Amino acid sequence: MVKVCTVRLLLAGESLADKMAVFFRVMVLVAALSTEVCAQQSPNSDFIVSSCRKSLIQFHLPAQDVVGKSVQFSAIDKYGRAFLITRALASQCGYTISQDGWGNIDFRTSLFSCYTEIRNDTHYEVTVKIEIASKPDMSGAEGYIKVVSCPYVWHPREILCETNYMEVSVRRKIPVISEGVFRDEPEDWSSAIPQAVSGLMSIWQVVFHLTANQKTTMMIDGAQNIGYGINTTESRTLLRSPYNSSESVFQKVGGVTFSTIRATLFYKQRWFIFLVDNAVACPVDDVTYTRSWITWTIPKNISPLLIGAKITQSSQIQFGVNLWNLTDGEIHSRRYNITDSSKATVVTIPVGAEGGYYKSHVVNKEYGITYSINPFLENLWVDDAWGITKYTIVKQMTTPFDRRPPIITNDTIPVTSIFNVTIGPFLPDVQLVNLTIGGVQQTINVSYPISTKHHPNMSSDFVLKVPFLDPHVSKEFFPDGIRLTLNVVFGFKIHPYDETFTSSATIVSFIPQPTVGPCGMNGLSLTAAIGNLSPDWNIYIEEQQLTLSNGLTANKTHTMVQVPASSEQIMHEVVSGGHVVTMPLTIKDQNGATLYKFVLSCDVPINPVACFPNGTIEVTVKKVSNIPDMDMSLLTLRDPQCAPDYFSNNMAHFTFAANSCKTTRQFEQDMMIYENEVYYYSRTSGKLLYVMNVTCDYTINGTLVLSYGYDDNPTPSAQTAIASIDLTLRLSKDSTYTTFYGEVDYPVVKYLRDSLYFEVELLYSSDPRLELFLDTCWATTTSDMSSLPAWPIIDNSCEHNEPYQTNFYKVTADSRVQFPSHFKRFEVKTFTFMNGNQPYMGEIYFHCNVIICDASNLSSDSVCTGIGSCIPTKQRSGRSIKPSDAHRSVSTSRAVFLLT
Ligand SMILES: *[C@@H]1O[C@H](CO)[C@@H](O)[C@H](O)[C@H]1NC(C)=O
Ligand SMILES: *[C@@H]1O[C@H](CO)[C@@H](O)[C@H](O)[C@H]1NC(C)=O
Ligand SMILES: *[C@@H]1O[C@H](CO)[C@@H](O)[C@H](O)[C@H]1NC(C)=O
Ligand SMILES: *[C@@H]1O[C@H](CO)[C@@H](O)[C@H](O)[C@H]1NC(C)=O
Ligand SMILES: *[C@@H]1O[C@H](CO)[C@@H](O)[C@H](O)[C@H]1NC(C)=O
Ligand SMILES: *[C@@H]1O[C@H](CO)[C@@H](O)[C@H](O)[C@H]1NC(C)=O
Ligand SMILES: *[C@@H]1O[C@H](CO)[C@@H](O)[C@H](O)[C@H]1NC(C)=O
Ligand SMILES: *[C@@H]1O[C@H](CO)[C@@H](O)[C@H](O)[C@H]1NC(C)=O
Repeated sequence: MVKVCTVRLLLAGESLADKMAVFFRVMVLVAALSTEVCAQQSPNSDFIVSSCRKSLIQFHLPAQDVVGKSVQFSAIDKYGRAFLITRALASQCGYTISQDGWGNIDFRTSLFSCYTEIRNDTHYEVTVKIEIASKPDMSGAEGYIKVVSCPYVWHPREILCETNYMEVSVRRKIPVISEGVFRDEPEDWSSAIPQAVSGLMSIWQVVFHLTANQKTTMMIDGAQNIGYGINTTESRTLLRSPYNSSESVFQKVGGVTFSTIRATLFYKQRWFIFLVDNAVACPVDDVTYTRSWITWTIPKNISPLLIGAKITQSSQIQFGVNLWNLTDGEIHSRRYNITDSSKATVVTIPVGAEGGYYKSHVVNKEYGITYSINPFLENLWVDDAWGITKYTIVKQMTTPFDRRPPIITNDTIPVTSIFNVTIGPFLPDVQLVNLTIGGVQQTINVSYPISTKHHPNMSSDFVLKVPFLDPHVSKEFFPDGIRLTLNVVFGFKIHPYDETFTSSATIVSFIPQPTVGPCGMNGLSLTAAIGNLSPDWNIYIEEQQLTLSNGLTANKTHTMVQVPASSEQIMHEVVSGGHVVTMPLTIKDQNGATLYKFVLSCDVPINPVACFPNGTIEVTVKKVSNIPDMDMSLLTLRDPQCAPDYFSNNMAHFTFAANSCKTTRQFEQDMMIYENEVYYYSRTSGKLLYVMNVTCDYTINGTLVLSYGYDDNPTPSAQTAIASIDLTLRLSKDSTYTTFYGEVDYPVVKYLRDSLYFEVELLYSSDPRLELFLDTCWATTTSDMSSLPAWPIIDNSCEHNEPYQTNFYKVTADSRVQFPSHFKRFEVKTFTFMNGNQPYMGEIYFHCNVIICDASNLSSDSVCTGIGSCIPTKQRSGRSIKPSDAHRSVSTSRAVFLLT
């Protein structure tokens, strides 16, 4: 190894980060050599991987050791002097520094770099010093010395198009003459050309051919001063130039522009002067990009390199990436396409193919990506002027910035009550660093969980979830619901260079107003279904919160409120259409803020009237919420004497008999109707404020009707409720109708010629104005009243008389019979039941259709007059009879067993 004493250079730390293509940091040399210091013992430099690649030596510094640091390279010559590699020195002396998107640094030197130690033009040794510092001014830098030797076998002419320079080396035809041979021989001719004096073998003059007849001549020092690298080695001459030197000429070859330099080097070797024609040409616009392809076109037969040649033989190409050869199989599997013809080699690389890499960037505050790949192409050809030429192009390709505005996906499902926002896709180098929600900076993953969704192609999305009711979500109330707006700004950083960008999204979701209703009755409770309810919302009835243990049940889509109908919170209200039952509901959010208030109208067959078969009527009146200061004690029936039997602050209860309190009764079609009304007069104005019709509507099975209503001039409306009237058909033990067969006696056994004494009674009723009549009676052998055979007993209200007469019996009041009109009696002879010519023997059942009429005014109802001739006369007096099918019921006896 060379001695470790090196030169330290004073540098200014202006780092040029060429935005897109060039990521390496180059220190600009502003001042010259200052002090000479000795480097410390070289620390462990194993992380720097060096290798021989083609005619280059490469040093690889992995990103993890250099990102965020300042790195500088110096070449060390055989005397131990260090030369800081600046951009200008790099292109003049054959060095290339590149840093990829991830921060990895590659440092390459040409085998013919200015400070290479060349042994016999077959072995090349390069010593570099790499300094890495955390600070831009390189203070406290760690220095590493690397020495690498590479063998190389040169072709007669080798042209290298590096990314930052063009280099050509040509084998000289004249072999080196050993120094000792002519040690003391004076070079007599040298006085003629004084510039050619120095050294045994040297170049003293260069002639650049600018055009066919324009040339520029320079002394060697002059050419070197303006950036050319020109030298000789034992067996070769060397010309190196940056791409844009003033003597370079742009020339189109096969549609591609080449930067070309043609120079004639004048060199002397002892007493010979040689003129060597050197030409180099490297393409500058050979790569075109589309969104999905990179196309690299390298023409064959590059004319500037074939001056004087007439025949070129078939060439041989080698393609690779990162200076590694690739086999045809690898090329194929990576989907590169190489078309090699006699005119050109065309390489197409799909954007994204293996071998290159994607990288995120920010340009004009916008996110986008590039794809980079570093391929090379070698073309070996033979021509009659130059022999074998090896032409190598090393490329660094980066696709133009491709804007990729992040896609914001709204995956919000309203019923979950969570905003679900996906932003992406991003390359793995993008990091979500901060989050602003509703204008407030948030700590990621503390207040709001962020998850990362990875895609197979390595990209990923970020998924943010924000609850609808988050305080930073803005809410706007509309008649049909709540509009929630999530304003979010995502702040991103790109690894490793901390480029930043933001992306904002406004996500709107709408929570429709809860659907309420229907409100109805279930048993003794009012129930209402509420849909569209957010899970964090609470339901209140008045100020009382309902919970699952207290009045709520829920299925997947609805919450059911269940409140006892008698509950204080259930209100009655009088509206234009009449009287409604209402349920006041409030929906609050989890913070207790009221979101909605509803007063539900319930479609409820709430029946404040109870009608009993004995004619007792009960009415419950609830306070009407829109009559101010309603005093429940002041309610009365039609008869002002009939006050509530009890009342509370919000209800009053009446119990009265059908024949009291001015209750009216009327018959209508098949109904018997009792009617009364509940009145409420204003305590102060005496004005009638409220009327409720109380109607008991009895069909024979009993129907009870109620109605009530309120307006300025109250006109009651009607609703219907149902009760039933009970009838019984009994069998008396004899014609006195004092004792009857009981449950246990059935089937009653009777012998032919025995008489059967029946009594039909309207049970329970205490209304003396009602009268029961028999329409039709008949007997069957089964309990099914419609079965056959059937024997008529009473026909059209009159006694059937074949073969034996049925007889009516008059009913008079006694200790058992309070209202004789509620009874009818008749006698049947068992001989009546003939089966052909034989009397029937066995079980027999009796059935009667009855009608109920107004005893005092039969003509008020056509049914009671239009049936049969035996109503009322015969049925009342006994022994006579006729009827329609209204206010009727059928009464069936238990089985009677007939024996002979
Ligand atoms: C030319 O090469 C010699 C030998 O390698 C070297 O000593 C000399 O510095 C080089 N000159 C230039 C200008 O690179
Ligand atoms: C240089 O190469 C020649 C021919 O290959 C060989 O004879 C000679 O010994 C080599 N010299 C050195 C110093 O390696
Ligand atoms: C790469 O390919 C070239 C040309 O085919 C060949 O000369 C060279 O030896 C190869 N290099 C490696 C490392 O295989
Ligand atoms: C390669 O490119 C050539 C010329 O563009 C085309 O004809 C050929 O189909 C391509 N091959 C593949 C495998 O894409
Ligand atoms: C958010 O959306 C993503 C993508 O549709 C889905 O996989 C995820 O389950 C959703 N999360 C929630 C909480 O809805
Ligand atoms: C949030 O991140 C963005 C992008 O990285 C950045 O520009 C912004 O300054 C950050 N905001 C805060 C408050 O840190
Ligand atoms: C987000 O998704 C929800 C639910 O699909 C939808 O109601 C809302 O309109 C969407 N908002 C935006 C801004 O796309
Ligand atoms: C939930 O209950 C509501 C109201 O009773 C009903 O309309 C709805 O169909 C029920 N939904 C389910 C999923 O059972």
